[in-house]
Amino acid sequence: MVISLDDNRIISQETENDERSFEQSLRPQNFSQYIGQNKIKKSLNIYIEAAKQREESLDHVLLFGPPGLGKTTMATVIAHEMGVNLKTTSGPAIEKSGDLAALLNELEPGDILFIDEIHRLPKVVEEMLYSAMEDFYIDIVIGQGPTAHPVHFSLPPFTLIGATTRAGLLDAPFRNRFGIVEHMNYYNTQDLEAIVKRSATIFHTKIKDEGAHEISLRSRGTPRIANRLLKRVRDFAQVSNKNEIDIESVNQALSALGVDSKGLDQTDLKLLETMIDYYNGGPVGLNTIAANIGEETETISEVYEPYLLQIGYLKRTSRGRMVTESGYQHLGKENPRR
Ligand SMILES: Nc1ncnc2c1ncn2[C@@H]1O[C@H](COP(=O)(O)OP(=O)(O)OP(=O)(O)O)[C@@H](O)[C@H]1O
Ligand SMILES: [Mg+2]
Repeated sequence: MVISLDDNRIISQETENDERSFEQSLRPQNFSQYIGQNKIKKSLNIYIEAAKQREESLDHVLLFGPPGLGKTTMATVIAHEMGVNLKTTSGPAIEKSGDLAALLNELEPGDILFIDEIHRLPKVVEEMLYSAMEDFYIDIVIGQGPTAHPVHFSLPPFTLIGATTRAGLLDAPFRNRFGIVEHMNYYNTQDLEAIVKRSATIFHTKIKDEGAHEISLRSRGTPRIANRLLKRVRDFAQVSNKNEIDIESVNQALSALGVDSKGLDQTDLKLLETMIDYYNGGPVGLNTIAANIGEETETISEVYEPYLLQIGYLKRTSRGRMVTESGYQHLGKENPRR
């Protein structure tokens, strides 16, 4: 058996085909299987019940939050709870207004159109969505040159669910057309532990409480990472002939993967170290950090930085990012400012 030690895939946003079917098998189908995010579940439940009672489509929903927190899963759950069809697409996949028209044309009353990475929709498509969202119609131009003429299409009432990593990436006129806007937060360890145990059950894998707890501490508040770690840990337990995952298998697998006690990987550590060693802990701009460690600025700002801010190892200032005292401590380095 080959165990891949490519730690990048533990945190990366990319999901390949085998990964996608793996995620699919673990995806909760309804609110009772969806662990955590209780505030969001509670309010969505009320909106869903009310829409069902009025026999109306659900208001448009915007979900935002870091990758892997369960936005796509939430869209699936909402469709299931509403008892409607879900059509899934993504911002970059809709290139022209005609693509959007084709998607909208297939919707039945009450259906949900889920657009992932909605901040990456082309502007013309976004503007076409305005009338679709507000008054359920679109105007499109058919033909070219002198024969070109506008055609008015009415649409069935539908729900648009948009997902994005940051709400600030959407223009206000677009954002304001969503009646329901929910911010997903990182999960606490208790919820992650429950997610790990649920996934282990689906895998028919036994795991000790301390094992599940340790994975939850090291998965960056993110269900996708918790599930990926569980998958790797299971491999390690299996090759060491253990029929139950214990804390030893977790520690062994995670140290081989380069995931530290806080769930930080080489990139996080390199980021903090570079800031400390070359910039005195900051303040330093995001672009400079990205260039120094050879990562895309976007990856830093959307994947790495939010978690480092969340656990208080980095802070934002008007002049750039700074490593905090706890950041220094975690790296075992002396803070010159103390
Ligand atoms: N609340 C949850 N309870 C149980 N499992 C969850 C939960 N949220 C997410 N997961 C699991 O984590 C995986 C990733 O979730 P999902 O694909 O919905 O994240 P996402 O926010 O859409 O990520 P991205 O921003 O990359 O599109 C899913 O396979 C799902 O099984
Ligand atoms: Mg998604």
